[in-house]
Amino acid sequence: MARFSVCAALLVLSCVDASPPTLRPTPTFPRLVEPATPQRTVFRPARRDIGDDINSILNGLGSAIPSYVASGVPNFFQNFPTGTAVQSSLGIGDDALAAAPTQVLNLPPYANWTGQGWSVLLHGNVFKQPNISQSQLDDLTNGFLINTSVSQLPASQAAQARNLTAEIYVVQQSDLNVTMTIVPLSADGKAEGTGQNLTVGPTSAEGDFNQVVPIPDPDGHLQLGNETDGIQSMSLHSLGTDTGNATAYLVPPEGFTVISDIDDILRVTKIYEPAEGLLNSFARPFTPWMNMPEIYANWSKALPNLHFHYLTTTPEQITPNYMEFIFATYPLGSFDTRPLNFSDVSATLSIRKFLLDRIFQTFPQRKFVLVADTSNSDVMKDYPAMVTDFPGQVQCIFLRNTSATDSGDRFPYDTSGFKGLNQSMYMFFTVPDDLKGLDLTKECYNSSVPQNVSFGEQGLPFGNGGFSLDSSRLVSVLMVAISVLLCL
Ligand SMILES: *[C@@H]1O[C@H](CO)[C@@H](O)[C@H](O)[C@H]1NC(C)=O
Ligand SMILES: *[C@@H]1O[C@H](CO)[C@@H](O)[C@H](O)[C@H]1NC(C)=O
Ligand SMILES: *[C@@H]1O[C@H](CO)[C@@H](O)[C@H](O)[C@H]1NC(C)=O
Ligand SMILES: *[C@@H]1O[C@H](CO)[C@@H](O)[C@H](O)[C@H]1NC(C)=O
Ligand SMILES: *[C@@H]1O[C@H](CO)[C@@H](O)[C@H](O)[C@H]1NC(C)=O
Ligand SMILES: *[C@@H]1O[C@H](CO)[C@@H](O)[C@H](O)[C@H]1NC(C)=O
Ligand SMILES: *[C@@H]1O[C@H](CO)[C@@H](O)[C@H](O)[C@H]1NC(C)=O
Ligand SMILES: *[C@@H]1O[C@H](CO)[C@@H](O)[C@H](O)[C@H]1NC(C)=O
Ligand SMILES: *[C@@H]1O[C@H](CO)[C@@H](O)[C@H](O)[C@H]1NC(C)=O
Ligand SMILES: *[C@@H]1O[C@H](CO)[C@@H](O)[C@H](O)[C@H]1NC(C)=O
Ligand SMILES: *[C@@H]1O[C@H](CO)[C@@H](O)[C@H](O)[C@H]1NC(C)=O
Ligand SMILES: *[C@@H]1O[C@H](CO)[C@@H](O)[C@H](O)[C@H]1NC(C)=O
Repeated sequence: MARFSVCAALLVLSCVDASPPTLRPTPTFPRLVEPATPQRTVFRPARRDIGDDINSILNGLGSAIPSYVASGVPNFFQNFPTGTAVQSSLGIGDDALAAAPTQVLNLPPYANWTGQGWSVLLHGNVFKQPNISQSQLDDLTNGFLINTSVSQLPASQAAQARNLTAEIYVVQQSDLNVTMTIVPLSADGKAEGTGQNLTVGPTSAEGDFNQVVPIPDPDGHLQLGNETDGIQSMSLHSLGTDTGNATAYLVPPEGFTVISDIDDILRVTKIYEPAEGLLNSFARPFTPWMNMPEIYANWSKALPNLHFHYLTTTPEQITPNYMEFIFATYPLGSFDTRPLNFSDVSATLSIRKFLLDRIFQTFPQRKFVLVADTSNSDVMKDYPAMVTDFPGQVQCIFLRNTSATDSGDRFPYDTSGFKGLNQSMYMFFTVPDDLKGLDLTKECYNSSVPQNVSFGEQGLPFGNGGFSLDSSRLVSVLMVAISVLLCL
């Protein structure tokens, strides 16, 4: 018990044991979920990658390394329950579940011009929200908090923590078709006509739908994609529920699209400090990162036809909170998050490239501005790879150097992907003002911002390949090592 508390306090890890898969009402340490089948996550590096330096230190101690640490993706939103796992583990009867209304999560989609008409990629999830008692919900919520509990949080934070937990413990609905009414919106947001019905499905085992469908426009409300440069919008409403409302963005073949990550670039998450990251994600109000909203607002004003696409690997279930924050703080735009069939660490590491490839393939003539921060190992690999994989389509890459402004970020990152890239197309920056005044259609690099790219692993505990010993980093790595040992 004490062992687990210490372990939990040191590190967010789901220390998986071999007990039967019942969801105990009182999690005693931050375990994100009880997996449906007992499993132990062990990282076995297939090839040299970021994280190997941490690995080599930990391996010296003879321990297996939790994927959380070793993957370089400090992603605590992992291995959420899917399918009927929630229903059975919470002991919810079929009748009680049948009585709960079916809800739809509709991610704001993009649509492309096919030459004949517009077609839209509808994607989202169908689920039921079981009636979880407050005390059961509080117990589940406490499982996501380190060194605190829902009863110790201010009322507004407790409410948000319960809200997110409830969003995670939903019962996904497979084999259902979803019908949506799609209505053209005028430039000032008014509905034009009564719209058309589109049906997608059936939903996957995880309740997901993900399908490209043509948009009928018999009354000619929409501008043709070969005759406009502007982004048009349409409202989506899922029949049978008021939960599945979203806006679809019709994006013409040519122009500029900003693809932006969210955590630690648009909002303060501190994903690299688990206890903080969990509080920032579950309890505290979402807070913009410095004056980033002003930068995006100015981009949007300077380039009215700019398309914003928010691409984050946060899991689908909790995107309503991300969308609410983004749409209140940043320009409106389409969304991609992590579908539920991408659940384990290796799938999580592959999802960003999957989603990037999909939007690049959908808009082969558009130019993309990619924005994120250095704390995601998948970004560090995938963003520069887009330059070679899709020649001519990457306009700019902007990466916030999180360790420059945040001494709490002790995760190393790999800049080798940038080797050979023309400096004029990328910039590592420290504060939002470094991006101030850049004309995205012409320039990506503000020469007054010092670049310190070694084209290798950076932010290592022992310095960048040198012998300088940073003792605070060493202590942090040893803390991780100790907690791993306690944990296993
Ligand atoms: C837990 O909380 C106590 C009291 O607030 C604090 O002293 C301690 O540093 C915290 N531990 C962690 C791991 O955050
Ligand atoms: C985009 O258009 C092409 C046809 O040009 C079509 O095959 C593809 O599915 C469309 N993609 C989306 C996301 O609508
Ligand atoms: C745009 O495409 C439509 C066919 O979908 C065609 O009828 C029209 O002439 C095209 N407009 C231009 C300006 O090429
Ligand atoms: C949820 O359960 C509580 C008792 O635990 C009950 O009072 C309440 O009516 C239920 N709500 C719904 C919507 O079924
Ligand atoms: C949680 O909050 C979001 C955003 O306010 C809201 O859309 C959603 O319905 C809430 N979910 C639950 C389960 O309360
Ligand atoms: C969903 O639609 C397909 C045809 O697109 C149909 O074959 C199937 O029976 C429908 N499923 C349900 C549950 O309505
Ligand atoms: C869409 O479906 C709804 C519900 O079945 C129906 O009332 C409405 O008339 C349909 N709209 C169109 C354009 O077919
Ligand atoms: C969703 O859209 C429908 C149809 O436009 C509207 O009647 C309803 O009020 C909307 N629901 C919410 C929660 O905004
Ligand atoms: C998840 O589902 C999508 C289609 O919805 C599929 O293209 C993708 O390969 C699946 N990913 C995994 C990891 O199963
Ligand atoms: C990021 O900032 C840190 C701390 O200032 C610095 O040591 C490092 O070289 C920077 N990395 C890049 C790629 O500029
Ligand atoms: C880098 O790009 C700039 C602007 O497009 C260009 O002027 C310069 O020649 C390029 N440098 C190299 C080495 O290709
Ligand atoms: C945004 O634009 C306004 C008005 O043009 C300008 O005063 C301000 O300095 C700009 N801010 C940034 C961060 O670019």
